[in-house]
Amino acid sequence: MSKEEKYQTVLPQIQSLIAGENDDIAKMANMVAVLHETFGFWWTGFYRVLPKAGETGEKELVLGPFQGPVACTHIPYGKGVCGTAWKQRETIVVPDVHLFPGHIASSSASQSEIVVPLFRNDEVFAVLDIDSAFLNTFDAIDRRYLEQIAAIYNTV
Ligand code: SME
Repeated sequence: MSKEEKYQTVLPQIQSLIAGENDDIAKMANMVAVLHETFGFWWTGFYRVLPKAGETGEKELVLGPFQGPVACTHIPYGKGVCGTAWKQRETIVVPDVHLFPGHIASSSASQSEIVVPLFRNDEVFAVLDIDSAFLNTFDAIDRRYLEQIAAIYNTV
């Protein structure tokens, strides 16, 4: 099955899995499971935008549901690929993580990465982060379908 065919299979699967479910953790957990199992990625998970501890009013990314090896739990705004996707409000495709300035290495096995922001009320409330153990794994097809998946998140 081609990558595109796999995405076309998982799209309706994800849609029905999250339909009628209001809890973010439950939705994210099943989405991650489907994506991770279907594509055999190295690491698949969400980071959520949450208030920092204390009364600073600042926010940060906090590790959410994921599959794969343990990962870093807090990522500041604008840092790493995830914090940059949050700041820039757009998908970032990284063909070689070693060439991305400020990349945060949760695992040395990770070679390429894609991060897709999810929006609620026009604000980024989470990012979907996928890591591959190979270089150049992600392209325009991944971007298109993962953005579609991110977009249906709030509509079902
Ligand atoms: N590489 C990410 C950090 C998270 S882990 O890959 C799971 C980044 O640079 O933001």
